[in-house]
Amino acid sequence: MIQFDAASLQFHLQTPGSSYVIQVVNGYPLHLYWGKRIRIYRGSAPVRYAYRSFAPYADPKKPGFSPGTLPLEYPASGTGDYRHPAFHIQLDNGTTVSDLRYSGHRIYPGKKKLPGLPATYVESDQEAESLDLFLKDAVSGLSVILTYTVFRDFDVLTRSAVLKNNGAGPLRLQRALSASLDFRDDQFDSLTFYGSHNNERNINRHPLHEEIQLVDSKRGASSPQHDPFFALLRKNTDEDHGEVYGCSLVYSGNFAATIEVSEFHTVRASIGINPFDFSWLLEPGESFQTPEAVLVYSGHGLNRLSHTYHKLYRSRLARGRFRDQLRPILINNWEATYFKLSEERLLAIAGEAAKAGIELFVLDDGWFGRRDNDRSSLGDWIVDRRKLPHGLGWLAGKIHDLGLQFGLWFEPEMVSPDSDLYRTHPDWCLHVPGRTRSLSRNQLVLDLSRRDVRDYLVASVSAVLDSADINYVKWDMNRHMSEVGSALLPAGRQRETAHRYLLGLYAVLETLTSAYPEILFENCSSGGGRYDPGMLYYMPQTWASDNTDAISRLKIQYGTSLLYPPVTIGAHVSAVPNHQVGRITSLPLRGHVAMSGNFGYELDLTRLNDAEKKQACEQVAFYKKIRPLIQFGDFYRILNPFDEGDAAWCFVAPDRSEAIGFYFRILADASYRPRFFQFKGLDPDAPYENLANGETFGGDELMHAGVNVPNERGDFHSYIWRIRRK
Ligand code: DGJ
Repeated sequence: MIQFDAASLQFHLQTPGSSYVIQVVNGYPLHLYWGKRIRIYRGSAPVRYAYRSFAPYADPKKPGFSPGTLPLEYPASGTGDYRHPAFHIQLDNGTTVSDLRYSGHRIYPGKKKLPGLPATYVESDQEAESLDLFLKDAVSGLSVILTYTVFRDFDVLTRSAVLKNNGAGPLRLQRALSASLDFRDDQFDSLTFYGSHNNERNINRHPLHEEIQLVDSKRGASSPQHDPFFALLRKNTDEDHGEVYGCSLVYSGNFAATIEVSEFHTVRASIGINPFDFSWLLEPGESFQTPEAVLVYSGHGLNRLSHTYHKLYRSRLARGRFRDQLRPILINNWEATYFKLSEERLLAIAGEAAKAGIELFVLDDGWFGRRDNDRSSLGDWIVDRRKLPHGLGWLAGKIHDLGLQFGLWFEPEMVSPDSDLYRTHPDWCLHVPGRTRSLSRNQLVLDLSRRDVRDYLVASVSAVLDSADINYVKWDMNRHMSEVGSALLPAGRQRETAHRYLLGLYAVLETLTSAYPEILFENCSSGGGRYDPGMLYYMPQTWASDNTDAISRLKIQYGTSLLYPPVTIGAHVSAVPNHQVGRITSLPLRGHVAMSGNFGYELDLTRLNDAEKKQACEQVAFYKKIRPLIQFGDFYRILNPFDEGDAAWCFVAPDRSEAIGFYFRILADASYRPRFFQFKGLDPDAPYENLANGETFGGDELMHAGVNVPNERGDFHSYIWRIRRK
């Protein structure tokens, strides 16, 4: 998978469908190619070393060999490359110039772990091959190891870097990105996500301009505003055709994804920890590990790109016993009771859930401290006996007696000023001396860079988990960071706080998920506010949005599916009028939207009438039938709700033996317009039977001619077609 030519110092990294080529020239690792697989790369279109635009050069005999015009693998700064660098250091003498040269390499089977950080992995060394490129800066003593891994079964290349101080004095990293990518032309569209709470992962696609484009987070979490991801697409690329280059960062904190079009109409794109408000002091001998960037090339449009990310993230990023297991259908009490919960009310809902065939009951916020609203008690993880007089163990037992599993909500990273924890340890939150501690949702962020705080979290959460038979944890996080400072870090390391927080969070999650392998963890941050590959490493599913309105969810789930597999997308049927937008939609439509992900309910089932209860039973039974297809099948986007209004998608079994298609009609129109649903991903040569009526058509016909979408009056309809190969 990695070809190395010693004479030319050329490295050709191959996946089944892509090639990535690096060559060391005059000591610089140059980027020669990334794209469709080439059998043998001989250099038919070599890099031109032309003197241009007064670009500075180091060797007077080679004026054309300037860092400013070269395609570089990990660009330094201060020697004439004016594009944004991959890293930036400050030496003890205050200077900031660096110059990296090749000093060796190592090619080896398998893939290394990233110490302290989540990353993709292999289960055997045969699954991947890796390259470490060793680079050195002669003056500062900085050495860099660029690590590349190519997978045998996926069109995936991962990249990360270790920066080490081999000098005699301290070095300060001002920037240490995970990957920098130089493309030789700029004929691309960029695709990124934007959004907000209740409106996550909208798709933003537009042509590149002669400018520097940035998506980032300075919030201490990957955030709903942007996602640590970008893609570059050829102009003609759509869901099913054309080239796409994706770059996703396995990180849950401040990130920056930058796309820069140069004066020569080349592109430099990069991803990594946000350099804003970041620095890291490296004492002699110390090193810094960057997070991992996951690069995916697709020559077959966005659907293929998504399939690659889905398969990789489902099978070689997510971990633990739930990774390959069907996930339980849950009911969550949040929108049913909010903070007004009682044993009686919870058990009544659980009783109805059990009758409907639901498998897991989740007790959300409000069960601990004296939390009657969101103004108190975060940090005091002790059951509130006013609401639950018999305690959690008893409640869990009752829920189990009904035949349901029991799950519990926590928000461990936070503290309410009105809590025993805060009264005892006011310095345990992120804060800056002399400055206001700004609240958000009436709460502060605990300083997870501190060991004592981490130890408290592990101990207090473990005590609850040990006190009852708990099968599932919803791990929430409901505010972003402000006044980012740590009481324990010296002045020179204050700008390390945000990344140290993330390292602390990952350490806590590693400890808890290893100690409780039988518990299914679900990630949440006011919905999808920290929905990223870093969190998926610890928690194989995420509550995708606090917006449970089915029509809003079409866009949220469609956007999310570009990168994240449907099995990771928590999606619930909620009450109408919807609590976030006030919209009224039918129970079947709400069911179809939620069934397009990791299915559950979030309403008071006792308030449904008999007909609705029957429908809920039918929905649960139906989801159980299609669950393997939804959770482990291939997902194809068909109609884009951002473009068309209507949305459509389908799920196809990996062996193409069955499929289910969903079509969502949004607004009715006065004059009849024919609409069709065209499957994707079927076996064109196989006959498929519609399980609803026994009609049989070939896979080719179902994909190309399609089937008619019914023409009904009124807004908000949904239709499904379930088919099986005969
Ligand atoms: C935000 C979550 O996204 C909701 O589902 C719910 O758990 C609330 N927090 C509880 O405070």
